[in-house]
Amino acid sequence: MARATAGPAGANPVGPASFRNSGATPGAGSGAFVGLISGTSADGIDAALTRFDADGTARLELGRTYPWDPQLRARLVELGQGAALQSLDEFGDLDVRIGEAFAAATLQLLEEAGAAPADIAAIGSHGQTLRHRPAGAAYDGHHPFTLQLGDANVIAERCGITTVADFRRRDVAAGGQGAPLLPALHAAMLASADEARAVLNLGGIANLTLLPCDGTGAGVAGFDTGPANALMDAWCERVLGQPYDKDGRFAASGTVDPALLARLLDEPWFALAPPKSTGREQFHIDWLTARLGGTEAPADVQATLMQLTAATVADALLARQPGTRRVLVCGGGVHNAALLQAIGERLPGVVVESTAACGLDPDFVEAMGFAWLARQTLAGRPGNLPGVTGARGPRVLGAIYPGNLSPLD
Ligand SMILES: Nc1ncnc2c1ncn2[C@@H]1O[C@H](COP(=O)(O)OP(=O)(O)O)[C@@H](O)[C@H]1O
Ligand SMILES: [Mg+2]
Repeated sequence: MARATAGPAGANPVGPASFRNSGATPGAGSGAFVGLISGTSADGIDAALTRFDADGTARLELGRTYPWDPQLRARLVELGQGAALQSLDEFGDLDVRIGEAFAAATLQLLEEAGAAPADIAAIGSHGQTLRHRPAGAAYDGHHPFTLQLGDANVIAERCGITTVADFRRRDVAAGGQGAPLLPALHAAMLASADEARAVLNLGGIANLTLLPCDGTGAGVAGFDTGPANALMDAWCERVLGQPYDKDGRFAASGTVDPALLARLLDEPWFALAPPKSTGREQFHIDWLTARLGGTEAPADVQATLMQLTAATVADALLARQPGTRRVLVCGGGVHNAALLQAIGERLPGVVVESTAACGLDPDFVEAMGFAWLARQTLAGRPGNLPGVTGARGPRVLGAIYPGNLSPLD
């Protein structure tokens, strides 16, 4: 499913007027950054070579999704769904293996782009989430935490590029959810003075950013709404042996089961008010099977899961920003035509379209976001929005792992 986008310079321009960085020093952090993320779906490593002009304009120069080693991916998926770690040795090994994979992705991206490491100001690496237990999550321990692996020492060492990583944990330490982190970027790039908008990221989990109509990004809200592809992928894997439901055709071949949909919607998490975030440790295959009657046709379950995503997204949007005129969709779910149609049907009068309509490649918005977060950190600027994550205040996020200091190193 590797997707690639290579546009001529200027293919994805975002107008300077729409990209503000409060407190930005003109020129600070201009240059090229690489953003890296593997999301909850663990479908691949998204890498975005992103250029920032001195005025803050961001442009995707090259975006690529690099596949995981299949065995490593299978283990990451198991662990993400709650499987126990074998040992501390496995933990250390995984951290380095993920770091190596992210470094290799960066080097390949740069080669394909014809860029040299010396051209890159910094890498922003999200890593791979192994566990997300923010405040409010039900689990056996006491302390909220979130854990992303992918040793940034390895990335900095292999690439010779300063690497910023571990973006979420400072926000959690400050009482926040550590997520979502991209509403500030969405506000800067996609808010409009003419209409209330929302940005919908359909990854493994769905999250919404609400952009009121003032065009300034003030009053922006953002939160997870529940599963997007996580459960649909898991069900597809189980009954079809396929990693995902291409274009939603399997779901479209089934009929929604209203009783099952009601049981799924009964999950108390959906009724929680923001700030809230979640992951596959909550919405995993066992969560689904515990709610099945046992006699449902597989395609009907898929159709119902698709409606679960559509209903939780639409209900949250209608409750929190009823005047929304346009929903801009990014993340892999944007390629699921049946899902987009289902969301649109629940939002009459609202335009539901890809962020591509605003010049942003939907497959790389998130990876560009981590390039942006690295730039924020290097410039000493906050990356979180406390109103979104629930943190006690704005925080400069992540840790900086310097690249090679001189050719003698
Ligand atoms: N053509 C398609 N049809 C349906 N679903 C798709 C398609 N392409 C991608 N996807 C979905 O998008 C997911 C990956 O989305 P992504 O935004 O990378 O999620 P994450 O951030 O969780 O990694 C895949 O696992 C798959 O479910
Ligand atoms: Mg992904």
